[in-house]
Amino acid sequence: MSAPTSVRQPVLQARGLVKTYGKVIGLDGVDVDLYPGEVLAVIGDNGAGKSTLIKALTGAVVPDAGELRLDGHPVSFKRPQDARDAGIETVYQTLAVAPAL
Ligand SMILES: Nc1ncnc2c1ncn2[C@@H]1O[C@H](COP(=O)(O)OP(=O)(O)O)[C@@H](O)[C@H]1O
Ligand SMILES: [Mg+2]
Repeated sequence: MSAPTSVRQPVLQARGLVKTYGKVIGLDGVDVDLYPGEVLAVIGDNGAGKSTLIKALTGAVVPDAGELRLDGHPVSFKRPQDARDAGIETVYQTLAVAPAL
């Protein structure tokens, strides 16, 4: 039986993530809590920042500001391998992964 939500800790927490591309704001202070066993869907318009958020959570983009915590501990991913080493893998939706398919 899982513990009540009130005492469960997020496995992944983001606070105040900011990422800009020149004048374009990709992320404008994003907060995320991901709980153990949770499947979290991020839905938004084209250009809303979904891909940038995933990249910021997985080391493919280094945010300009904000914090990430994994199991309550501050982490700072500079590259995807850093996130991978921490147990975070990214499966990209892109035909470039397997063009023949
Ligand atoms: N590498 C980049 N260089 C410049 N602008 C970018 C780059 N990546 C994303 N953006 C811009 O950041 C915003 C968010 O994009 P993105 O995260 O790809 O949105 P989504 O995945 O929700 O469609 C958009 O305005 C997009 O044009
Ligand atoms: Mg996208």
